[in-house]
Amino acid sequence: TRRITIRDLQAAKERGERWPMLTAYDYSTARVFDEAGIPVLLVGDSAANVVYGYDTTVPVTVEELLPLVRGVVRGTKRALVVADLPFGSYQSSAAQALDSAARFMKDGGAQAVKLEGGQRVVPQVEALVAAGIPVMAHIGLTPQSVNAFGGYRVQGRGDEASHRLLQDAKALQHAGAFAVVMEVVPSDVAAQVTKALHIPTIGIGAGPSCDAQVLVWQDMAGLRGAGKPAKFVKEFADVAGVLRDAATRYGDEVRAGSYPAAEHEYQ
Ligand code: KIV
Ligand code: NA
Repeated sequence: TRRITIRDLQAAKERGERWPMLTAYDYSTARVFDEAGIPVLLVGDSAANVVYGYDTTVPVTVEELLPLVRGVVRGTKRALVVADLPFGSYQSSAAQALDSAARFMKDGGAQAVKLEGGQRVVPQVEALVAAGIPVMAHIGLTPQSVNAFGGYRVQGRGDEASHRLLQDAKALQHAGAFAVVMEVVPSDVAAQVTKALHIPTIGIGAGPSCDAQVLVWQDMAGLRGAGKPAKFVKEFADVAGVLRDAATRYGDEVRAGSYPAAEHEYQ
């Protein structure tokens, strides 16, 4: 087995084949998703929320994400592992983006990085690509800009905003990005962007026309945090329920003295 490459993803777009992507933050779940045939795993800065319990993705750091990337890389044989560049690790300059990306590639073992933004991050994307680092772009609802947006709301709605989104996507493609994530944008706008680009688009709350889809795995599997899931989320399992039941039964059996039983003992 060899790892999926950005060429494989490009070829999938040319064949009209859709593909799934999930987030992963540790060795154990990355192994499971790799075995399930998920070709791309993102160590998202959503770790801020689902691993570290922050309210937004703004506070999470390279230092906090790096060990998660290492675990995911060690847990996978086939998946392309993408490391998310956190807020503050690439905005200042192309040089800063290179330093941060290099840490995720060298120390982390990631095969690609992702960053948020349109035209404003073109210099960063160009510098990374020139250095041989595959870059996944991310436009629409970019959570690192939550304070500028004034909340989590649909982006790219209306003529002007949808035109800007398309121009951003084209600029990122031209800068050398190998794929573009579109988060919470109207389906027709996402369809238009997908048609206009020769690189794959990856939707999350962007309708069915994107070349690929991504979800935070805890959302996908029903390991629910506080608050109700976003409209675009489909829970394919009730992992919170399964874990709660398992922990409850384990607790009950320990308290009752029925676990450990004879078969669990060493003589
Ligand atoms: O951090 C993340 O999980 C993401 C995906 C939702 C695209 O950026
Ligand atoms: Na992210």
